[in-house]
Amino acid sequence: MAVLSTPRRFQRLFIIALLVLTTWYLFLTRYNNSSLLLLPTKDNTGKYKYIPSSYDWSKRPFKHPFNSSTLTHLPIGTPRQLPRIQHDFSKDQTNNLHTQLQRKRKNAVKQSAKKSYHSYRKYAFGHDELSPLRLKGIQSFAGWGATLVDSLDTLWIMGLKTEFLEAVSKVATIDWANTTADSCNLFETNIRYLGGLLSAYDLSNQEYKVLLNKAIELADMLYSAFDTPNHMPANNFHFDKAKKGELIPNQAESSAAVGTLSLEFTRLSQLTGDSKYFNAIDGIKKSMERTQDETALPGMWPVFVDLENGFDVSRGNTFNMGASADSAYEYLSKMYLLLGGLDEEYKRMHLKAVDAASKHVVFRPMVPDGEKTHDILFSGTVMSNGRTVELLTEVQHLGCFTGGMFALGGKLFEVEEDVKIGERLARGCAWAYEVFPSGIMPEVSDVLACDRDEKGELNLCEWDEEKWTGGGRLPKPFFSVRNPQYLLRPEAIESVFILYRITGEKEWLDVAWRMFERVKKATETKHAHSAISDVRVKAGDTIKTDSMEVSLSFHPKDFGTFC
Ligand SMILES: *[C@@H]1O[C@H](CO)[C@@H](O)[C@H](O)[C@H]1NC(C)=O
Ligand SMILES: *[C@@H]1O[C@H](CO)[C@@H](O)[C@H](O)[C@H]1NC(C)=O
Repeated sequence: MAVLSTPRRFQRLFIIALLVLTTWYLFLTRYNNSSLLLLPTKDNTGKYKYIPSSYDWSKRPFKHPFNSSTLTHLPIGTPRQLPRIQHDFSKDQTNNLHTQLQRKRKNAVKQSAKKSYHSYRKYAFGHDELSPLRLKGIQSFAGWGATLVDSLDTLWIMGLKTEFLEAVSKVATIDWANTTADSCNLFETNIRYLGGLLSAYDLSNQEYKVLLNKAIELADMLYSAFDTPNHMPANNFHFDKAKKGELIPNQAESSAAVGTLSLEFTRLSQLTGDSKYFNAIDGIKKSMERTQDETALPGMWPVFVDLENGFDVSRGNTFNMGASADSAYEYLSKMYLLLGGLDEEYKRMHLKAVDAASKHVVFRPMVPDGEKTHDILFSGTVMSNGRTVELLTEVQHLGCFTGGMFALGGKLFEVEEDVKIGERLARGCAWAYEVFPSGIMPEVSDVLACDRDEKGELNLCEWDEEKWTGGGRLPKPFFSVRNPQYLLRPEAIESVFILYRITGEKEWLDVAWRMFERVKKATETKHAHSAISDVRVKAGDTIKTDSMEVSLSFHPKDFGTFC
């Protein structure tokens, strides 16, 4: 299916193993979800040898400047009292998290993270990634130290203070102008480096000002991606062209790439008091809002949009919440939260999107006899030309974040129905983990589905052996596996985590623990963890692909130089 292999070029790729481990760890630790809004800044940068980057992007004049009389500023006003998202654990009779069993599990997760991080530190410190078998440093994200930056928040959360402080002093010397690459990918650089710096800065109580300084330097560079004729960002950030104001946004850009800048840019405006970052991403929000009802599947945006022609959605016919689209949806409710509930547009966009997705994209798999009680859902892909809507019942591991997204949005906007859909989606991915021999679900597969009833409900249906065309090692109802790899992705366990925190139901702790144990067994190497080539074998027999971050299906040449 050509449409499904093209997104590979732009795929939202490869979240690092440590991120997975953080999520596991978070299950097991009480973690105060305090407000993200502005807190006083304590500056102790003096402790670190802060070396500013050798090129200062903030001094570069825009070739296509924003009109200063129409800049959008952060919304002002008192943040709203928003509904509680987390279950109130203080009212529980027994505290699940502090049992001896949970302490043991927590320690096991921490030891795994520590082992991987220490190998990175020993063999690849300052490089983007560690290759877990050859034990070499790899530069896959422009060479600024992607793992170093992306691990900061994990180190802090796990209480690895010594490692954290050492990492901060290394980060303090990053020079964003020192790279052998010609260009970097705006989306990846934003989520890994800028997101990593800002989350570490906030989590560590804003004490390490150097993290903010590095974030500002980087954001000033990435802000230049908006120096284009129509102020839509160029995802392929070519350094020399950017300096000359010659970037042009793509005609076929993944919606995730353009929709996943908002949280980081907004947070930076909140921290610096400079609205320019927020103004830039607000242009994207306005485009998303303008086009949301005009697409071939109203409520959702096509996986690819034409940015060169001002966010044109008229030619897109593929819709899903998987590769290349995922976090464009994820960020909507989180933006509403970050802005203290003061921007209703994000709420409206989220509600319309999840409404369209639950009517068209979400489906119920057909499960064999004996497993009828499984009330589970998956998120698939829709092809639509505006008249006919066709559902492809594929399951992408990347789409497993939807359980958490539906549930979180359901709590935030008080739509109990969405919390339930989120639970069923999270259970769907957890169940898919269970049925494959390795205990892990594949990257992309196809599954038999039940038809919706006349009312459009996702009811239970009878297993129909005739329809199943799978065989060999395939567990029913999966009838094909298009990509059998597991790339150390965190989406499934992240949703399980969110569901536990929202519902307080103990069963999720055990679901997560089983996932952790199996992933550990299937991916662990002597020094770290590795992606595996095929989840259809037993956990002890997997083939490790010597990659923590970047899949085998990833071809750097497709990206030009990728960062
Ligand atoms: C900037 O915006 C104002 C208000 O809409 C408009 O009058 C003015 O012509 C714009 N300036 C430029 C250079 O486009
Ligand atoms: C540039 O980065 C490389 C690693 O990518 C590092 O080895 C080198 O020391 C850096 N150069 C300067 C001048 O910072």
